[in-house]
Amino acid sequence: MDILASLLLLVHLIPVSAARNGASSKSRKRIMPDPVTEPPVTDPVYEALLYCNIPSVAERSMEGHAPHHFKLVSVQVLIRHGDRYPLYAIPKTKRPEIDCTLVANRKPYHPKLEGFVSHMSKGSGSSFESPLNSMPLYPNHALCEMGELTQTGIVQHLQNGQLLRDIYLKKHKLLPSDWSADQLYLETTGRSRTLQSGLALLYGFLPDFDWKKIYFRHQPSVLFCSGNCYCPVRNQYLEKEQRRQYLLRLKNSQLEQTYGEMARIVDIPTKQLRASNPIDSMLCHFCHNVSFPCTRSGCFDMEHFKVIKMHQIEDEKERREKRLYLGYSLLGAHPILNQTIDRMQRAAEGRRDELFALYSAHDVTLSPVLSALGLSEARFPRFAARLIFELWQDRDKPSEHAVRILYNGVDVTFHTSFCQDHHKRSSKPMCPLENLVRFVKRDMFVALDSSSTNYYDACHREGV
Ligand SMILES: *[C@@H]1O[C@H](CO)[C@@H](O)[C@H](O)[C@H]1NC(C)=O
Ligand SMILES: *[C@@H]1O[C@H](CO)[C@@H](O)[C@H](O)[C@H]1NC(C)=O
Repeated sequence: MDILASLLLLVHLIPVSAARNGASSKSRKRIMPDPVTEPPVTDPVYEALLYCNIPSVAERSMEGHAPHHFKLVSVQVLIRHGDRYPLYAIPKTKRPEIDCTLVANRKPYHPKLEGFVSHMSKGSGSSFESPLNSMPLYPNHALCEMGELTQTGIVQHLQNGQLLRDIYLKKHKLLPSDWSADQLYLETTGRSRTLQSGLALLYGFLPDFDWKKIYFRHQPSVLFCSGNCYCPVRNQYLEKEQRRQYLLRLKNSQLEQTYGEMARIVDIPTKQLRASNPIDSMLCHFCHNVSFPCTRSGCFDMEHFKVIKMHQIEDEKERREKRLYLGYSLLGAHPILNQTIDRMQRAAEGRRDELFALYSAHDVTLSPVLSALGLSEARFPRFAARLIFELWQDRDKPSEHAVRILYNGVDVTFHTSFCQDHHKRSSKPMCPLENLVRFVKRDMFVALDSSSTNYYDACHREGV
């Protein structure tokens, strides 16, 4: 067995070995590094496997967990698209042969796969805001196109949908049986992989996927900032963050040497190789158990992969410490968080529309939202990652509403910057809605270490 094969077999072992923490089987999902169950040193291969998120055993999750006197009011879901083909090819190499058609006799499989394909092929153009209406509703190329969602990506989201359905619809009856179009809010960026991921999740989620009740809005910005995208200070933070990234890379001589070796193998300048973002392609090889590319001068190998992946991990660590990315994130995530609390407040007032919202997005969407919420320790968004905002009403005190936040099934409510202290003072298993509202409306700007108290001022402040 080659090294890649033996590593992939590990995928199926991880949940078992991680469950050694007998205190709670629920802690087996790892969004935050767990000192009890994880390798003591950061292992780039282990991290890469988590990133692939290969569907295996049914997962446990903490979504929908609440004491009996709480009633579920609304749910908002922010997802990253599922497993996809690389965005760029590595020059002068054969690109990995991965089949993006959906077939029942290939793994990973989901019982709803055939139903999904047949339902999507009857899709209705009127369910999509332009330009989404001209997009394919499921992946269908025998050799994947660049960036195309794979069968793995579809299965990941069918599984997400099914899991959320069991919890939110079957158990908590979030939607009435005669639910209508305006009880869903659906939004996606204009990429086939995000649209198709959203459709797969919905197909797993809804009891009857009626095209007449589906309407996907198009979001032009990966930050989902709609009419509020203009923010010069955010861009200044981003430029400084990119400068930091660049300097860190220069300091890593092992990384430079690795890129040099790889560039020699494909016989192109190092700069050109780096620009083709080889780790993205190599992750695709890795997640799909396809051996790394070779030329007559040699092969890319596991050592190259580990060095680049390890650098990514170190980069994320420094990113947290230097806090430039936090500045970018607080401003970048404000508009979508503002929309999230706005919808929660309307639901808390008793409005019965948009009970379930789905935003189908990218790593560059989830990452700033996680960071802005204070979840900077959370892992980089894996394929088909999900971040969920639940709104609950206390039946004993109907005027009180509370929030739970979950990342990949783990309750992270009390890891957020606006609810850490609450946890220590209160026995309630949730965060008061007011905490989140106060954070989004004011405290997130205060966290920028500035005198600004609103988005507009914070975005236009001089001299960052
Ligand atoms: C990976 O591929 C090898 C052949 O290249 C095969 O023997 C092995 O079973 C595969 N492993 C998995 C986990 O699919
Ligand atoms: C925040 O939400 C309110 C209510 O929907 C809206 O009027 C306002 O423009 C939003 N502000 C930003 C900066 O997104």
